[in-house]
Amino acid sequence: MTIRIAVIGAGIMGADHARIVAHDLPRATLQVVCDTDADRAKSVAQEYAAVDCTTNPEDTIFRDDVDAVIIASPDTTHAPLSLACISARKRALCEKPLSHTSDDCLAVMRAEQDAGAKFIQIGFMRRYDRSYIDMRNTLASGGLGRPLMMHNFHRNVSTPATSFTGAMAITSSAPHEFDMIRHVLGAECTSIAAFQPRRSDDVVAPVVMVLETSDGQLVTVEINNNAVYGYDVRAELVGEAGSLSINTVAHSRIDRALSQFTQYDADWRGRFADAYRLQNRDFVRFVETGEFPVVASTAWDGYCAALIAETGVRALATGTKQAIDMIARPQFYV
Ligand SMILES: NC(=O)c1ccc[n+]([C@@H]2O[C@H](COP(=O)([O-])OP(=O)(O)OC[C@H]3O[C@@H](n4cnc5c(N)ncnc54)[C@H](O)[C@@H]3O)[C@@H](O)[C@H]2O)c1
Repeated sequence: MTIRIAVIGAGIMGADHARIVAHDLPRATLQVVCDTDADRAKSVAQEYAAVDCTTNPEDTIFRDDVDAVIIASPDTTHAPLSLACISARKRALCEKPLSHTSDDCLAVMRAEQDAGAKFIQIGFMRRYDRSYIDMRNTLASGGLGRPLMMHNFHRNVSTPATSFTGAMAITSSAPHEFDMIRHVLGAECTSIAAFQPRRSDDVVAPVVMVLETSDGQLVTVEINNNAVYGYDVRAELVGEAGSLSINTVAHSRIDRALSQFTQYDADWRGRFADAYRLQNRDFVRFVETGEFPVVASTAWDGYCAALIAETGVRALATGTKQAIDMIARPQFYV
């Protein structure tokens, strides 16, 4: 018995998911690659020997020869396609963010609750990354004492377009940090403030956020989408008895000309390769058993990240600290 997976969206991330399904998930088959751009669908389907390729995502979800779906199309399609998957009673691994609006996420949560089961796993793959697992475990073992602060750095080489804005950094890039803050600290975010320094050109400047949690911790998040030098994700958790830092991952070191170099990945696919693979294996287990993976993010986590982002955009626009008004967590997601 193999799980027949459709990958929707065959861009950078969708092609990577197609590769993982084809090469790294022994109990799954790459059944369909779907992209509204027929050439992309065809080229990724051919590269990873998919059974079929299509251009209509809704039809793909309802196909009888598709057991489960990976949604890797643009952000605005995630909530509507997740709702279609719930209607079709197909489990979906939906790339982050679930939506840019918390209302969309609430609609997905309502649909799951009406259907009586969880269908949507959100692609916050850092929950499967060894560094963040170390951070969580060390905190749980008491090794750091009571957590006081968490500092997060998310740096990309460059933005895809000059139209990229600070608000987009908060809604598209920062949700990974928002999810890790909640996952590591086991607390909810209660307020957010956001600021930008001034750059000398028309490229988007970094966004720096300060958040407060329900347990009285302070958290900083730097999103720098034009860091130039490499893809660099780091964090430090500071407790009353010690601190744990996530290192830059270096697979090799060059010593030359009285200097020492390590290399950065150009983007997330290398840095988080293991996390994506482990996440997708957990997704296959979810489809096989119907048991939602213990570690993975639910639609509720997608809602929390979207609400924090939405509030962060308001904080950036107004230059003032904003309260994050979360609904009570439904029993269904406890
Ligand atoms: N988890 C992560 O670390 C991570 C990293 C990068 C991107 N992402 C997310 O993955 C998603 C895709 O990002 P990307 O960088 O691959 O983008 P991309 O622009 O490279 O690819 C998107 C693809 O989706 C196709 N598409 C557009 N609308 C569609 C629709 N309605 N149905 C089917 N296909 C459609 C486009 O033609 C394109 O090929 C985004 O939501 C992004 O936020 C997640």
